[in-house]
Amino acid sequence: MPRPRILSGMRPTGALHLGNLMGALDNWVRLQDPYDCFFAIVDWHSLTTDYADPGPIRENILEVACDWLAAGLDPSRSTLFIQSLVPEHAELHLLLSMIVPVPWLERVPTYKEQQQQLSEKDLSTYGFLGYPLLQTADIVIYKADAVPVGEDQAPHVELSREIVRRFNNFFGPVFPEPQTLLTEAKRIPGTDGRKMSKSYGNAVYMKDDPETMRQKIKPMVTDPARMRRTDPGNPDKCPVFDLHRAFSSPETQGWAAEGCRTAGIGCLDCKGRLIEHMLARLQDVHARRPQFAARPDTVWDILLEGSKKARTVAQVTMDEVRAAMKISYPRK
Ligand code: TRP
Ligand code: SF4
Repeated sequence: MPRPRILSGMRPTGALHLGNLMGALDNWVRLQDPYDCFFAIVDWHSLTTDYADPGPIRENILEVACDWLAAGLDPSRSTLFIQSLVPEHAELHLLLSMIVPVPWLERVPTYKEQQQQLSEKDLSTYGFLGYPLLQTADIVIYKADAVPVGEDQAPHVELSREIVRRFNNFFGPVFPEPQTLLTEAKRIPGTDGRKMSKSYGNAVYMKDDPETMRQKIKPMVTDPARMRRTDPGNPDKCPVFDLHRAFSSPETQGWAAEGCRTAGIGCLDCKGRLIEHMLARLQDVHARRPQFAARPDTVWDILLEGSKKARTVAQVTMDEVRAAMKISYPRK
């Protein structure tokens, strides 16, 4: 039995932070054995919002790839590739655009949300409306059985199922309906207590060295009730404790919760132990990343190799799609 196939993607927005690692990447790394994995750096998706400033995309692809490899994505087991190096994604996106009713795209929740959130950008474009359709093409061109994503992306995968049903109704059963493989959402707060995000300036990056990590965690926001060392606190109201939940052993979590509630420990003690656990968890990442970052040519080669493999699969699907749509003509 061949392993079921999964596909997922990330936009090349730059260096990845611990929220990306614990929320998505770490999960992908574990999926590499049970699944036939395709992981795409979706540069065209970046253009849907950053079309006016595409300059950083090239460098960002490299940053993301270094973080992927440092996290343990393994090009000998998984196909790691760049979306735009498989131009068949664009062809399928175009063909799907013929059958998708515009209201299906307009009612995707992220459409209006993102337009409001990124109101400084003009996102009334054709390309931005088509964002989830391009994502559908990414998924179905590999006939992926499932898509590992967080809750926020579930409506996009749902849309891709609806589009698959419509396509198969018109043209016959070409695509399987992709399932959502929901990644459990761990709360990874940034240093200011809000959700960790590059745009908030509160992120700890995978590429930060241990000293930088210490410097970022030390002043991190805690339960505001602990004004003084002698004030007891509530770990459930403390973002540092959320990080303990993600990184620390059950013993350390117990120690921190108890010490916090009884004022038996200070916040600096608590953060000190947290850092030890974070650094232990990131040891392999820290060991691997500089080796890739120092050899950008090797990293590009890995992505080019993966893109070639992906393209072979995508081309087979497109032959089938053209045949099903009766636009398959003799080719030289
Ligand atoms: N929209 C996804 C995100 O922002 C990125 C993405 C593009 C993706 N194509 C995909 C995710 C295909 C899963 C499958 O996270
Ligand atoms: Fe947060 Fe730890 Fe301080 Fe409690 S002791 S408030 S959990 S940092």
